[in-house]
Amino acid sequence: MNNDYTSFLQELREKSNIVDVVQKYVDLEKKGGRYWARCPIHNEKTPSFTVDETRGSYYCFGCHASGDVFSFIQQVEHVDFKEAVRLLANRAGLEIPKFNGNFNEEKRQAERQKKERLYQLMREAGLYYYNNLAGQAVGEVVDYINLRKLTKSTLKTFGIGYSSGYNGLIDYLRNKGFTDSEMLESGVAKEKNGKLYDFEAGRLIVPIFNNLNNVVAFGGRALGTVDFMKYKNTEETLIFKKRNELFGVHTLKKAKLTENFNCVIVVEGYMDVISLYQAGVKNAVASMGTALTIEQARMLKYYNNNIYLCYDGDNAGQKATYKGIDILRDAGLNVKVVKLIEGLDPDDIIKKYGVSKFRELVDNAISPTEYKIKEVAKNYDLSTPEGQGKFAVQALEILTELSTMVEREAYLPMISSLSRLSENSLAKQLDKFGENEKGYKESQEVQDVAQRFTLKPSTSKYYKASRYLIYTIFAYNSLDYFTEDISHYLKDKEHIAIYDFARELATNNIKLNLEALKELEGNGEAKNIYEGNYESIPNDCREQMLNDCFITLKKDFLDIEMQELTNRLEEEQNIDQQSLLCSQIAEINKQIIDLKRRKNGK
Ligand code: CTP
Ligand code: MN
Repeated sequence: MNNDYTSFLQELREKSNIVDVVQKYVDLEKKGGRYWARCPIHNEKTPSFTVDETRGSYYCFGCHASGDVFSFIQQVEHVDFKEAVRLLANRAGLEIPKFNGNFNEEKRQAERQKKERLYQLMREAGLYYYNNLAGQAVGEVVDYINLRKLTKSTLKTFGIGYSSGYNGLIDYLRNKGFTDSEMLESGVAKEKNGKLYDFEAGRLIVPIFNNLNNVVAFGGRALGTVDFMKYKNTEETLIFKKRNELFGVHTLKKAKLTENFNCVIVVEGYMDVISLYQAGVKNAVASMGTALTIEQARMLKYYNNNIYLCYDGDNAGQKATYKGIDILRDAGLNVKVVKLIEGLDPDDIIKKYGVSKFRELVDNAISPTEYKIKEVAKNYDLSTPEGQGKFAVQALEILTELSTMVEREAYLPMISSLSRLSENSLAKQLDKFGENEKGYKESQEVQDVAQRFTLKPSTSKYYKASRYLIYTIFAYNSLDYFTEDISHYLKDKEHIAIYDFARELATNNIKLNLEALKELEGNGEAKNIYEGNYESIPNDCREQMLNDCFITLKKDFLDIEMQELTNRLEEEQNIDQQSLLCSQIAEINKQIIDLKRRKNGK
């Protein structure tokens, strides 16, 4: 079985000629022994990207990207190794052999075919809506498009369409050979009295693309002002889980080919992304509502490490900013917060003040710490000594999230001027926090190690567990300990890559050891772990160690899932969906209880 996978990868490599693969993205020109092109990974004016066909490798003299056909796909499509293998296998028409005995191959195969069919259906549906609008649309919808000031070219870029009635789409898809059950399963149709109807009837249609350019869902905007169901989105299906998608990745990915971005801006809504794009800001994506998920944070890492959170200035937006900051930071991203004008979203700002105002707000983005301090200040009456004192204590507490004293002290002037307490007395109080707080002492240790090994400073228990788990897997060849795929529980991109690498080695019957980590060039965490000087773990403690780390990771994952389901339940209006959510929450709860039991030794 393992040999299957080895020979599969080998065959895939042979069938994936790097010149042919790269040619799909840029025109290559042969000069001397190499092919040259403008780099598809970074934006440039003159060609410095080269392909060496005989070695099957590429190298860019500009951005120094290099590697083989697999890493090329990873870099150009912004996907992980597994996904790159899948894409190349599709292209070459090869079947991917099963990883290990845990999967039911037939079931997986059937599911993949079903997904493929749903992608086709959604693409057709998107085309139908689009042509419906681009063709002979009249009346209300045209007025609405004008009201929102959407240009022809924007409609095209985003594939925006219109559903004029209950039956048009159904007839169209039937004609294209799709069955009723496929239409129901895709979420585009619902059934009433035994008859199918278009779920989005009468709405402006915004297709949601995944990061591989498949249409996976639709957001339907009511024409005009409504209080109820302004947007009606495709419900969850086999190919659409809202938590996994970011609206606008397809345009971002395309724009990245011709523009260099130093950050990605995360906004709330479809129309914000669309309006920004139209105004020339092409590096925005939407979390579609307010709850940014871990999955979305992970996806963002494949695009940029610098994220500007730009949620609406209302209550919900603020709550979401707080949560979003921590989710993004946990995923190892650098975060800044854009403060919008009270009551306006990015789309409103562009319409009212023009895009230059929006850019100015982005330029004035603040650090998460500053954001939190200013938000906290709003809760107190800073003209009274009582308010000043209480605010100061809470503000100083926020500083303890920062891992170095230097960073903490940098915020003292701000707290001082808000609270009108002297920097001196604030500093003393801060010292006290430092002494009592275990997190700070730990972070001091991390800082020391960081100096020696360029470790990412991180105080989070989660991050340490994640790193220790990977260390243990490699140092003691203990991948077998796990009976499930733990990559879902990892958040750090580099940790995920290392874990995938471990599985790849294991399927090739290669025994894991720390030395192997040297193979992962450019992966900073692989280097850190390799050089990390961990104490050796006695034989009889290893299982305990792995178990503890695993529980920490999984607990974190389940907590977040629980939080998100609860949020969704609060928003959900449909009774069937509510009861579905309740049963999902109960299931997660059960898993959390099980985990706690496991932690306490069953
Ligand atoms: N949203 C949703 N369902 C709703 C309301 C909102 O899915 N009933 C999601 C959509 O992705 C929407 C985003 O949350 O784009 C932000 O919602 P909101 O701020 O209410 O809407 P806007 O994006 O400002 O929409 P518009 O400009 O069209 O009024
Ligand atoms: Mn809006």
